Amino acid sequence: MSQLIQRLAVPAFPKPQAVPLPMLQQSVSVTFDYPVHFTFDLFSPTNGLLRSVLNPNLDAVPTNFIVVVDGGLLASMPNLVAQIQAYADCYADRINLKITPLIIAGGEGIKNDPTQVTIVHQLIHDVGLCRHSYVVAIGGGALLDLVGYAAATAHRGIRLVRVPTTVLAQDDSGVGVKNGVNAFGKKNFLGTFTPPYAVINDGAFLVNLPQRDWIAGIAEAVKVALIKDAAFFWWLVAQATALVQRDLGVMQQLIHRSCQHHLTHIGTYGDPFEMGSSRPLDFGHWSAHRLEHLTNYRLRHGEAVAIGMAIDSTYSYLNGDLAEADWEAIIQLLQTLGFALTVPELVEFADRPDHPQSVFRGLSEFREHLGGELTLMMLRGIGVGFEVHQVEIELYQRAIGLLAMQCVPNPIGGRIEQLD
Ligand SMILES: NC(=O)c1ccc[n+]([C@@H]2O[C@H](COP(=O)([O-])OP(=O)(O)OC[C@H]3O[C@@H](n4cnc5c(N)ncnc54)[C@H](O)[C@@H]3O)[C@@H](O)[C@H]2O)c1
Ligand SMILES: [Zn+2]
Repeated sequence: MSQLIQRLAVPAFPKPQAVPLPMLQQSVSVTFDYPVHFTFDLFSPTNGLLRSVLNPNLDAVPTNFIVVVDGGLLASMPNLVAQIQAYADCYADRINLKITPLIIAGGEGIKNDPTQVTIVHQLIHDVGLCRHSYVVAIGGGALLDLVGYAAATAHRGIRLVRVPTTVLAQDDSGVGVKNGVNAFGKKNFLGTFTPPYAVINDGAFLVNLPQRDWIAGIAEAVKVALIKDAAFFWWLVAQATALVQRDLGVMQQLIHRSCQHHLTHIGTYGDPFEMGSSRPLDFGHWSAHRLEHLTNYRLRHGEAVAIGMAIDSTYSYLNGDLAEADWEAIIQLLQTLGFALTVPELVEFADRPDHPQSVFRGLSEFREHLGGELTLMMLRGIGVGFEVHQVEIELYQRAIGLLAMQCVPNPIGGRIEQLD
């Protein structure tokens, strides 16, 4: 008996031999199309745009959706939630608002608070949204980033309709393919590349937007003009006073042109999901992101971008790449628009690049965020950006010093003195 057991225990199979198997190669191509609509008074009962975005074929089965609204927006539009509800009632045969709009406070603070993402996930779960349903996010860039992240991660992606309500969100953040929240003290550390289903830019949201946010968003239009479109830059110079004085028609033209540039870049530059190290649209952003953090988000994103562009334009000028007259025009436009070009946190530890509070930490964080080699956009002229992979801290320190000394008031047509 014991012999039999022993015999059975002996392996009956031949010694395994590795069989060489060829590598398999997968290739998947995905095309994304999304419209960016321009309208006025989206929730007027006579405006059928949202209905046709959510239910383009006018299917008899109404499309399910939820709405998340920026609480800060309600300060200027207190009746908005009631308007949304009335709109949904009006088109109830085609669209089905599953629950009263969720209100989430706007502003950067929500991107620093992980519970806010969970609140949106929870709502999607509670009302049972499926992947054929829609999340409509209405608000500033911070709210759109947060809700976009929640929508992109619930069920691995629920369709998102963005309704941006600040200038910055309409001319830049709302039309792109990114979302995200902050974590570990780093901007947009958690996030995805997920194109929206549709974007709806409604000029009516800008009518009562506070002046600070009205101006802040112009920075992103100046950015795209500086790296891609000299004619747009000079148009901005010519329209600066009208913009400061809140000419809505001029602002809408600015937004449209800026959107065109952002969409063209994403669609044609060849790297929509930023797999490489090059990110031209982030001109001025290495220091901007750092300054947002260093100022504990006292600065709006657009205000930080204005400072960041002033720094990199001044660097380009001091480095001999940018003509003095062009540099002056850039500084003057930013000042005419009302941007401060320095803050104490920029200057404080600029002479100690290794200090934890130094702005120069932003260079390594930027490189880490992009991956690969440090790649920064500089200017060779207005509308002509070019990339560099190395920078001189000493030249940056001079640029920061020069901006800190800028004491020239900025009447239109006035001249910026060179204080070097
Ligand atoms: N995803 C991207 O590609 C991308 C690109 C650029 C910027 N961003 C992000 O966008 C954010 C900045 O967006 P922002 O400048 O719109 O600021 P924001 O979202 O912080 O909004 C600013 C303030 O305005 C309020 N608000 C919004 N709409 C309003 C309205 N119509 N009337 C009155 N108040 C209103 C908000 O509640 C908030 O208090 C940052 O988090 C930035 O990182 C994202
Ligand atoms: Zn930006």
